[in-house]
Amino acid sequence: MNHLELAVLGGGNMGRALIGGLLRQGVRPERMSVGERDPAAREALQREFGLTALTDNVAAVAHASVVVVAVKPQDVGAVLSPLARTLGGTRPLVLSVAAGVRIAALQSWCGPDVTVMRAMPNRPALVGAGVTGLYAPAPSRPEQVDLAEQILRAVGEVVRLDTEEALDVVTALSGSGPAYFFLLAELMARAGMELGLSAQTASTLSAATLHGAGLLAQSGSDLARLRAEVTSKGGTTEAAVRAFEAAGLGEIVTRAVQAAAARSRELAEQFQPA
Ligand SMILES: NC(=O)c1ccc[n+]([C@@H]2O[C@H](COP(=O)([O-])OP(=O)(O)OC[C@H]3O[C@@H](n4cnc5c(N)ncnc54)[C@H](OP(=O)(O)O)[C@@H]3O)[C@@H](O)[C@H]2O)c1
Repeated sequence: MNHLELAVLGGGNMGRALIGGLLRQGVRPERMSVGERDPAAREALQREFGLTALTDNVAAVAHASVVVVAVKPQDVGAVLSPLARTLGGTRPLVLSVAAGVRIAALQSWCGPDVTVMRAMPNRPALVGAGVTGLYAPAPSRPEQVDLAEQILRAVGEVVRLDTEEALDVVTALSGSGPAYFFLLAELMARAGMELGLSAQTASTLSAATLHGAGLLAQSGSDLARLRAEVTSKGGTTEAAVRAFEAAGLGEIVTRAVQAAAARSRELAEQFQPA
């Protein structure tokens, strides 16, 4: 990875998260360039990370062996189309993190000779604790897929996917997932307040429980076992879990994730090439 020449198009939240993660992993700032249209963002990238941030995306990708596309989905076509000639000459790996922008669209903008891949990170990537679904269509070379995975690992875990459709499910599960846990923590804090705790105490308890449970979930034990370990027979947790089950929580969660996946598919329709 240290020999990587990387260009990031879009130095916003996700672009910055990836850049910061890669720098922490030892990638040299002089091996990275960023194409970013916002002058304040360019200035901040140069000041904080010591790398070159350019207005000209052609210049940003000119020497890159990997181009990460981290602009908003609606901007991807406008960013990549003018680069087709350059990319066709240098043939870098183009790795897009843009939600809902399909491989077919990326390929049509980059040209047929460029290898394109898609990834779906999630918000905790911003603190290096993300999880990303990676889809590399055939015939991506194994070393290119390894490289994409290494880059994404700079901001957390990576799960490889066999189909592009699976990215809609990843979006619904881990992409939107942080909000589901925030919602549950919010509702728990509210219940604590209704039972007499102050807003501050209830919120601290809820957020710290979310954090601690997350750390335990990363310890390698499976989730059902972790739950069983805090659910003594006849105890308080069991009383709560019974109430969740009686209210049909399992079905509610399934419906919620299905709704998010369906919306992901719908949104993707908007980002196809004309
Ligand atoms: N943030 C997340 O948690 C998250 C999670 C999963 C996936 N993603 C994906 O990551 C991508 C970026 O999201 P983000 O939250 O990082 O967005 P963001 O903060 O808005 O960053 C995008 C940056 O790209 C710049 N940009 C737009 N058009 C450009 C162009 N033609 N040339 C150069 N720079 C350009 C934007 O400038 P302006 O502000 O001037 O438009 C902005 O600074 C999205 O496609 C999103 O689907 C994000």
